[in-house]
Amino acid sequence: MNIRFFLNGLFVSREVHPLDRLLDILRTEEELTGTKEGCGEGECGACAVLIDGELVNSCMVPALQVHGREVLTIEGLGSSKDPDLLQSAFAEEGAVQCGFCIPGMIMASRALLAEIPHPDREQIRFALSGNLCRCTGYEKIYNAVEKAASLGYGEGLGKKEKRDILPPPEFSPSEKDRFFSPSTVEEALALRSRYGREITFLSGGTDFFPDLKNGKTSWRRIADLSRIDSLRESAISGDELFIGSLMTDTGIWKDPFLQRTFPALTEAARLSGAPAVQNRATLGGNLASASGAADLPVPLLVLGASVLAEGKKGKRRIPVENFSTGYRTTTLEESEMILAVVLPLKNVPPFQAFFKRGGRAALTLSRISVACAAELDGEEIKSIRLASGSMSPFPARMTETEAFLQGRKISPELPDLGGEQASREVSPRKSASFRKAVTGKYVRRFLLSLNDRGSPLQG
Ligand SMILES: Cc1cc2nc3c(=O)[nH]c(=O)nc-3n(C[C@H](O)[C@H](O)[C@H](O)COP(=O)(O)OP(=O)(O)OC[C@H]3O[C@@H](n4cnc5c(N)ncnc54)[C@H](O)[C@@H]3O)c2cc1C
Ligand code: FES
Ligand code: FES
Repeated sequence: MNIRFFLNGLFVSREVHPLDRLLDILRTEEELTGTKEGCGEGECGACAVLIDGELVNSCMVPALQVHGREVLTIEGLGSSKDPDLLQSAFAEEGAVQCGFCIPGMIMASRALLAEIPHPDREQIRFALSGNLCRCTGYEKIYNAVEKAASLGYGEGLGKKEKRDILPPPEFSPSEKDRFFSPSTVEEALALRSRYGREITFLSGGTDFFPDLKNGKTSWRRIADLSRIDSLRESAISGDELFIGSLMTDTGIWKDPFLQRTFPALTEAARLSGAPAVQNRATLGGNLASASGAADLPVPLLVLGASVLAEGKKGKRRIPVENFSTGYRTTTLEESEMILAVVLPLKNVPPFQAFFKRGGRAALTLSRISVACAAELDGEEIKSIRLASGSMSPFPARMTETEAFLQGRKISPELPDLGGEQASREVSPRKSASFRKAVTGKYVRRFLLSLNDRGSPLQG
C-alpha cells in the first residue's frame, strides 16, 4: 500500500506493507535511527515518537494507522550540532547517560511539556514511567525536564488534535481482500458478517503486536477500526452512560465526568500500562482480549456494566460477568463487534476504589487487582460489590465476601473480618499465599475507608 504522512514536518509517500511497524519504516526506509528498538513490545519506550502530538511506542503502530498523520521523531526536534532547548537541557544536566533510551525519554518529555508546560515531579515521573533507564539515572533525567520547563519550553507548543488530513488509505490489488479500513460501524459489521472470525479487528494494537511477536496470535484479514470516530465518543442516554469501544485508557482517566462518577474505572485506566500504551489501548480491545490480567473489567464488574455488541442479529447487551467464557475467549458471536460499554447512572455507588499491584509500576500487567463499590445506609452496608483480577481466567466477583459483608454494620472489627474472608475466597493458581494476602489487604483497606468515610486511594 501507499501511505502518505508528514514526518518531522515534511510530506512523505511510501510503498509499505500495511502491517509494517512505524519503527521499521522510520529506521529502515527513512534512515532515522534516533528511534531505537529495545523490547519490541511496548515495555521500554526506546521507540517512542509522537503521532499527532500524542506519545506512542512506534514498535506497536502499523503503517496503515500512520497514513494521514503527523509523526514527530527525535530528529524533528534538533540535531547534535543544533539541539533544541529540551535536548540541550538533557545534555547540560548530564542526563544523556546512554544514547539508547534518551531519544525516547526526550520524546516523552516533549509530549508532557506540550500538555503541562510546568509539571511537578510526580507528573514528570508518571510521564516517563514507560521509558526504561537501565542505568537508573532517573534523577538527572527529571532534572533536565524541570530545567526545560523552567526555560518555558512547553509554552506555546500546544497540543495537536488528531485530524484526518487525507482520505483513508488505499490498498494495493493484492491486499484489497485482506486489509480494510472501515470508517463506519456498518462497514465494519459488513466485513464481520462476510468473513466471520477470519477478520481480526485492530484498535490500538497494544495486545495484537506483542501477541504477534510472541506467536500468540495470527491473522488472515485485518480490519483497522481506528478510523471509526463514532466509537471514540461517550454519551449519556436516559439513565445510562455509553463509553465507545475505541475510547483509550488516557481518554477514560482524563475525563472529568468519569473521574467524578466512576473513580474506580478511571483509576484502573490510569494504572494500566504507561502513557504511550494508554494513549493507544482501548476499552474494546481490553475486553475483547479477555485476559485474566486485564484491568478495566475489574471495576466494570463492580459498577454493573454491560458490553454493547452488534452483529448479524442486531444489538445486544452482555453483562461483563458473562462476557468471557475462559482464558482469551468471549461470548461474542462470529458476526459481532463491541460498540460500547454501558454503565448505569442510577444508584452509582458513592464509595469506589481500585487497587493494583504489578511487578513493575505502570509497565507490567496486573498481578493482583481489586475493585470495590459500596453504598451505606447510616452505619450499615446497604450494598457492596467486590471483584478481583489476575486470579482466574477472567476477572471475577467475590460473591462470598460480598454476601458476608452485605447488611453488616460498620465496626472496628469489620475491615479485618472482611479482609480475611476475601483472602479465603480467591484461589489464585500462582503465588497463592502472596496474592491471597494482598487481596485481603485491599479489601480491608476499602472497609477501613468506609469506616472513616475517606478515600481509600489516599490510604
Ligand atoms: C507494555 C504494555 C503494558 C500493558 N499494561 C496493561 C495493564 O496494566 N492493564 C491492562 O489491562 N492491559 C495492559 N496491557 C494490554 C493492552 O494494552 C490492553 O489490553 C488494551 O486495552 C488492548 O486494547 P487495544 O486497542 O490495543 O487492542 P488491540 O491490540 O487492537 O486488540 C486486541 C484484541 O481485541 C480485539 N478487538 C479490538 N477492538 C475490538 C472491538 N471493538 N470489537 C471486537 N473486538 C475487538 C482485536 O481483534 C484483538 O483480538 C498492556 C500492554 C502493553 C504492551
Ligand atoms: S521497543 Fe520497547 S517499547 Fe517499543
Ligand atoms: S540513560 Fe540510558 S540506560 Fe540510563
